[in-house]
Order: sequence, then structure tokens, then C-alpha cells
Amino acid sequence: MKSSRTLIMRCSVCMALLSSSCRASSDSIRGLFQRAVHTEDNVAHHVDSDVHSPHRELLSKSPRVVGGRTAPSNRYTYTVSLQSNGVHLCGGVLIAIDVVLTAAHCTSQISNWSSAAVVIGRENLSIDNEGEELKVSEVMVHPNYLQNVEYDNDFALLFLSQPTMSKVGIVKVNRVNSKPAAYQSVLVLGWGDTAVGDWNGINVTYDGYISESMMCASFKNRDSCQGDSGGPLIVEGEDDTSDLLVGLVSWGVGCANNIWPGVYARVSSGYNWIRREVCLRSVFPPEQFDCEPF
Ligand SMILES: *[C@@H]1O[C@H](CO)[C@@H](O)[C@H](O)[C@H]1NC(C)=O
Ligand SMILES: *[C@@H]1O[C@H](CO)[C@@H](O)[C@H](O)[C@H]1NC(C)=O
Ligand SMILES: *[C@@H]1O[C@H](CO)[C@@H](O)[C@H](O)[C@H]1NC(C)=O
Repeated sequence: MKSSRTLIMRCSVCMALLSSSCRASSDSIRGLFQRAVHTEDNVAHHVDSDVHSPHRELLSKSPRVVGGRTAPSNRYTYTVSLQSNGVHLCGGVLIAIDVVLTAAHCTSQISNWSSAAVVIGRENLSIDNEGEELKVSEVMVHPNYLQNVEYDNDFALLFLSQPTMSKVGIVKVNRVNSKPAAYQSVLVLGWGDTAVGDWNGINVTYDGYISESMMCASFKNRDSCQGDSGGPLIVEGEDDTSDLLVGLVSWGVGCANNIWPGVYARVSSGYNWIRREVCLRSVFPPEQFDCEPF
């Protein structure tokens, strides 16, 4: 089992795919999800201590943002690391100075929130004293998470015990369903795996697993992977505050194998819930949410 984790934040450009084109590229790959589940005993489940989806977990032969590059310093500062006992589990996104949006499936990995922290302003996770570590005071999972299909509405909000004091740019949260357009260029960020496994002979399809709360993105030899879950998929603007958050890393079969694209929670589908909770609970809701004064 080769594992190639990176401790430096990486980014990678890929192309957005609409749900209708969000499937395995070959018709010969059909409905054998069960088979993947049954091979469970033959594959390693936990690569380091990364959190990843059951899909990826079950099929994971070796780990992988794959094909990415080191993110430029002091850019994408809204990207945070969710850690448990000092170990990176997932990515997350600051959408207010006291609120992090992440994938719901990341929160189920943490049983004791007292030993969890959101790490802000630390691009190189090996540098323990860089940036800030903030506690989470409240966790909210989307009420329709897992309602229809696995990983449906993979959204969770982490309310921080205090606002960040770091110099961060808060990302804009996408509310428009038509964004991103099909084949629009998007960027994914994270500290996840960077090596690719061997996917020959794995026979599964995405048909029936892609809901309206999801979208795909892919690019030859580039993808998000284990450890990237919960992190941002953005349409890049000129700077942090003009970037548009369109997705969260959610799941996939393998990574960067050119057959199965990465699947992302579609932020516009969770927008109303996100806005309501941020308006109710954030001490400093950003203007973009247009919260009613109270
Ligand atoms: C994949 O599964 C389908 C349906 O069972 C089968 O017809 C096809 O031969 C399989 N492909 C491979 C590469 O195993
Ligand atoms: C939870 O974590 C805190 C801080 O690490 C620790 O003091 C506490 O004992 C833990 N609680 C349980 C039930 O493990
Ligand atoms: C990350 O920090 C560690 C510890 O200081 C250092 O050894 C390593 O070279 C750094 N990595 C990069 C890519 O800067």
C-alpha cells in the first residue's frame, strides 16, 4: 500500500460536468456497485488517517489533489484543515469569520469534538505553530443529508467558538444553479493524497448515484482524493473575496483514473439552508447573505 500524502496545500484545475454527463465514460461499465462492496475484505480501508467516502474507501488500492501543484502562498486563505487530535482529516471553507462549511461525511469521523480543531492560515501542515487552531462550538449537518441516495446533500456547518483573527479572505458562496456551466474551468484545493492507484478491472457505474445536490468535475490525470473531502471547488476570481465557491469535495471511485470523475456537493443546492443557519448563528454574517437585521 503506497501512500503519498502531501502536507502542503495543493490546487488543481478541472472541468465542471453537469449531472447528465456525470457518469462513467464507458457503457461497458455497468451497475456493479455491489461487487465493489463485496470486495471490501480485499482492500485496505484506511490510508493514513484520511477521511474519504465509502465509495473511495471500499475501492481504494492506493491513495492521491492528484496532478495538482502547490498552491500559491497567501491565496485561497478561506481553505482550512479540519483536524482531530492534531491529524488532518478533511478540508473546509470559511464562509464567515466564525463559520466553516465542510462535507457532512467528514463530521461523522469525529466522535469527540473537544479534541477537534479547525486550522486556519497554515499552508504547510507540518509547521505546527503557524496560523490558528480554533475549536468548534456547534456542528450542524444538512437535514436532508443521505435522504435519497448516499452522500446526498453532503453539507455540514461548523460554528467556531470564536471568530478567526487571521487575515483571511472570505469566499463567496454560489447561489445560482446554472453555475458553473458545463465544461467551465474550476479549481479544487486540498491537502489530500497525490498518488494514483491501479484501477484496471474495477467495474462500477455512477448511474443512480448522482443527485441534484451533486456535480462532477474532471480533467485528465487530475482529481481530488482522500483527505480533500470537504474542501473547496471554486470558480476562480481575481482574489480570495471574488472567488466563487461552487462545490465541496464529496466522493468518487478512485481518483484521477480518467473513468470516474470526482463528485462534489453542489453548493447552490444547499444555499438556502446555509444562508438561514449562517444568518441565525453567525456573529458576523457576511453581507453577501443579506441577513435580516434583528
Ligand atoms: C462489467 O459488468 C458488465 C455487466 O455485468 C459486464 O457485461 C462487463 O463485461 C463487465 N466489464 C468488465 C471489464 O469486467
Ligand atoms: C475528548 O477530548 C478531550 C480533549 O482532548 C479530552 O480531555 C476528553 O477526555 C475527551 N473525551 C472523551 C470522552 O474521550
Ligand atoms: C513544510 O514544513 C516542514 C517543517 O518545517 C519542512 O521540513 C518542509 O520542507 C516544508 N515543506 C515545504 C514544501 O515547504
